[in-house]
Amino acid sequence: MKSLVVYYSKSGNTRLVGNEIAKELNAEYEELVDLKKRSGVVGFITAATDSIGRKLTTIEPIQKKPADYQMIVVGTPSWGNNMASAVRTFLTENNLTDKKVHFFCTAGADAGKSFEEMEKLISGNTQHNKMTVISSEIKSGKYKEKVKEFVGQIKG
Ligand SMILES: Cc1cc2nc3c(=O)[nH]c(=O)nc-3n(C[C@H](O)[C@H](O)[C@H](O)COP(=O)(O)O)c2cc1C
Repeated sequence: MKSLVVYYSKSGNTRLVGNEIAKELNAEYEELVDLKKRSGVVGFITAATDSIGRKLTTIEPIQKKPADYQMIVVGTPSWGNNMASAVRTFLTENNLTDKKVHFFCTAGADAGKSFEEMEKLISGNTQHNKMTVISSEIKSGKYKEKVKEFVGQIKG
Protein backbone atom coordinates (compact mmCIF):
# COMPACT_ATOMS: atom_id res chain seq x y z
CA MET A 1 0.00 0.00 0.00
CA LYS A 2 1.44 3.39 -0.98
CA SER A 3 1.80 5.40 2.23
CA LEU A 4 2.64 8.96 3.19
CA VAL A 5 3.67 10.24 6.62
CA VAL A 6 2.73 13.89 7.12
CA TYR A 7 3.82 15.77 10.22
CA TYR A 8 4.63 19.15 11.71
CA SER A 9 7.53 19.57 14.11
CA LYS A 10 8.76 22.68 15.88
CA SER A 11 11.68 21.25 17.86
CA GLY A 12 12.42 17.94 16.15
CA ASN A 13 10.61 15.25 18.20
CA THR A 14 7.72 14.70 15.81
CA ARG A 15 10.17 14.75 12.89
CA LEU A 16 12.28 12.04 14.55
CA VAL A 17 9.26 9.81 15.16
CA GLY A 18 7.70 10.61 11.76
CA ASN A 19 10.86 9.73 9.89
CA GLU A 20 11.22 6.51 11.88
CA ILE A 21 7.63 5.56 10.95
CA ALA A 22 8.37 6.34 7.29
CA LYS A 23 11.48 4.14 7.42
CA GLU A 24 9.67 1.18 9.06
CA LEU A 25 6.65 1.55 6.79
CA ASN A 26 8.70 2.09 3.66
CA ALA A 27 6.67 5.26 3.16
CA GLU A 28 7.36 8.72 1.84
CA TYR A 29 7.09 11.69 4.15
CA GLU A 30 6.20 15.36 4.07
CA GLU A 31 7.05 17.87 6.79
CA LEU A 32 4.56 20.71 7.09
CA VAL A 33 6.05 24.21 7.27
CA ASP A 34 4.13 26.78 9.30
CA LEU A 35 4.69 30.28 7.92
CA LYS A 36 3.77 31.88 11.26
CA LYS A 37 6.74 32.60 13.53
CA ARG A 38 6.79 30.05 16.34
CA SER A 39 10.13 30.82 17.99
CA GLY A 40 10.88 32.68 21.22
CA VAL A 41 8.55 33.32 24.13
CA VAL A 42 5.92 35.06 22.00
CA GLY A 43 6.05 32.21 19.47
CA PHE A 44 5.56 29.69 22.28
CA ILE A 45 2.59 31.53 23.73
CA THR A 46 0.87 32.08 20.38
CA ALA A 47 1.54 28.45 19.43
CA ALA A 48 -0.32 27.33 22.56
CA THR A 49 -3.16 29.86 22.27
CA ASP A 50 -3.62 29.22 18.52
CA SER A 51 -3.81 25.52 19.18
CA ILE A 52 -6.21 25.82 22.12
CA GLY A 53 -8.33 28.28 20.07
CA ARG A 54 -8.40 25.79 17.13
CA LYS A 55 -6.91 28.43 14.83
CA LEU A 56 -5.71 27.69 11.32
CA THR A 57 -2.40 29.01 10.01
CA THR A 58 -0.73 29.38 6.63
CA ILE A 59 1.44 26.44 5.61
CA GLU A 60 3.81 26.17 2.68
CA PRO A 61 2.24 24.30 -0.24
CA ILE A 62 2.90 20.60 0.22
CA GLN A 63 5.03 18.77 -2.34
CA LYS A 64 3.36 15.35 -2.19
CA LYS A 65 -0.24 14.82 -3.28
CA PRO A 66 -2.30 12.91 -0.68
CA ALA A 67 -4.49 11.70 -3.57
CA ASP A 68 -1.56 9.54 -4.76
CA TYR A 69 -1.53 7.49 -1.53
CA GLN A 70 -3.83 4.93 0.03
CA MET A 71 -2.60 5.44 3.59
CA ILE A 72 -1.79 8.72 5.32
CA VAL A 73 -0.15 8.82 8.77
CA VAL A 74 -0.51 12.24 10.37
CA GLY A 75 1.69 13.43 13.24
CA THR A 76 1.55 16.41 15.54
CA PRO A 77 3.14 17.71 18.70
CA SER A 78 0.70 18.22 21.58
CA TRP A 79 0.26 21.95 22.07
CA GLY A 80 -2.02 22.98 24.92
CA ASN A 81 -3.54 19.48 24.74
CA ASN A 82 -4.45 19.89 21.07
CA MET A 83 -2.91 19.45 17.63
CA ALA A 84 -0.56 22.11 16.23
CA SER A 85 -2.18 24.67 13.93
CA ALA A 86 -0.22 23.47 10.89
CA VAL A 87 -1.71 19.99 11.27
CA ARG A 88 -5.21 21.38 11.72
CA THR A 89 -4.65 23.38 8.52
CA PHE A 90 -3.42 20.32 6.60
CA LEU A 91 -6.43 18.24 7.70
CA THR A 92 -8.80 21.09 6.84
CA GLU A 93 -7.33 21.73 3.40
CA ASN A 94 -7.10 18.07 2.31
CA ASN A 95 -9.94 15.62 1.94
CA LEU A 96 -8.75 12.27 3.30
CA THR A 97 -12.20 10.67 3.45
CA ASP A 98 -11.33 7.72 1.19
CA LYS A 99 -7.91 7.06 2.79
CA LYS A 100 -6.75 4.85 5.61
CA VAL A 101 -5.68 7.46 8.15
CA HIS A 102 -3.66 6.89 11.32
CA PHE A 103 -2.30 9.36 13.86
CA PHE A 104 0.65 9.89 16.11
CA CYS A 105 1.47 12.58 18.61
CA THR A 106 4.58 13.54 20.52
CA ALA A 107 4.17 15.22 23.88
CA GLY A 108 5.92 16.19 27.08
CA ALA A 109 3.28 14.24 28.98
CA ASP A 110 0.17 13.45 26.92
CA ALA A 111 -1.73 14.05 23.70
CA GLY A 112 -4.74 15.59 25.45
CA LYS A 113 -7.56 16.07 22.95
CA SER A 114 -5.31 15.93 19.86
CA PHE A 115 -6.58 12.61 18.46
CA GLU A 116 -10.23 13.32 19.16
CA GLU A 117 -9.90 16.68 17.39
CA MET A 118 -7.99 15.21 14.44
CA GLU A 119 -10.67 12.56 13.97
CA LYS A 120 -13.34 15.25 13.76
CA LEU A 121 -11.59 16.71 10.71
CA ILE A 122 -11.64 13.51 8.68
CA SER A 123 -15.21 12.33 9.09
CA GLY A 124 -16.07 9.41 6.89
CA ASN A 125 -13.11 7.36 7.94
CA THR A 126 -13.78 4.54 10.31
CA GLN A 127 -10.88 3.10 12.26
CA HIS A 128 -7.72 4.97 13.15
CA ASN A 129 -4.73 3.69 15.05
CA LYS A 130 -3.06 6.16 17.37
CA MET A 131 0.30 6.36 19.05
CA THR A 132 1.61 8.85 21.59
CA VAL A 133 5.34 9.13 22.19
CA ILE A 134 6.42 11.18 25.20
CA SER A 135 9.70 13.08 25.52
CA SER A 136 11.29 10.56 27.93
CA GLU A 137 10.66 7.77 25.38
CA ILE A 138 12.45 9.82 22.77
CA LYS A 139 15.41 10.44 25.07
CA SER A 140 15.67 6.76 26.09
CA GLY A 141 15.24 5.49 22.51
CA LYS A 142 12.09 3.55 23.51
CA TYR A 143 10.19 5.31 20.73
CA LYS A 144 11.80 2.96 18.19
CA GLU A 145 10.08 -0.07 19.76
CA LYS A 146 6.78 1.81 19.89
CA VAL A 147 7.11 2.78 16.24
CA LYS A 148 7.73 -0.86 15.25
CA GLU A 149 4.61 -1.95 17.13
CA PHE A 150 2.51 0.88 15.63
CA VAL A 151 3.71 0.16 12.10
CA GLY A 152 2.96 -3.55 12.62
CA GLN A 153 -0.62 -2.61 13.54
CA ILE A 154 -1.25 -0.21 10.68
CA LYS A 155 0.31 -2.47 8.05
CA GLY A 156 -2.37 -4.97 9.11
C1 LIG B 1 3.57 25.68 22.60
C2 LIG B 1 3.75 24.34 23.22
C3 LIG B 1 2.72 23.77 23.95
C4 LIG B 1 2.88 22.49 24.52
N1 LIG B 1 1.83 21.94 25.19
C5 LIG B 1 1.95 20.67 25.67
C6 LIG B 1 0.84 20.04 26.32
O1 LIG B 1 -0.25 20.60 26.46
N2 LIG B 1 1.01 18.77 26.79
C7 LIG B 1 2.21 18.09 26.66
O2 LIG B 1 2.28 16.94 27.09
N3 LIG B 1 3.27 18.66 26.03
C8 LIG B 1 3.18 19.93 25.54
N4 LIG B 1 4.25 20.52 24.89
C9 LIG B 1 5.47 19.72 24.67
C10 LIG B 1 5.50 19.17 23.25
O3 LIG B 1 4.27 18.52 22.92
C11 LIG B 1 6.62 18.13 23.06
O4 LIG B 1 7.84 18.65 23.45
C12 LIG B 1 6.66 17.65 21.61
O5 LIG B 1 7.37 16.44 21.54
C13 LIG B 1 7.31 18.68 20.71
O6 LIG B 1 7.32 18.21 19.40
P1 LIG B 1 8.30 18.81 18.30
O7 LIG B 1 9.72 18.67 18.85
O8 LIG B 1 8.10 17.96 17.11
O9 LIG B 1 7.94 20.24 18.09
C14 LIG B 1 4.11 21.79 24.35
C15 LIG B 1 5.15 22.39 23.62
C16 LIG B 1 4.98 23.64 23.05
C17 LIG B 1 6.10 24.26 22.25
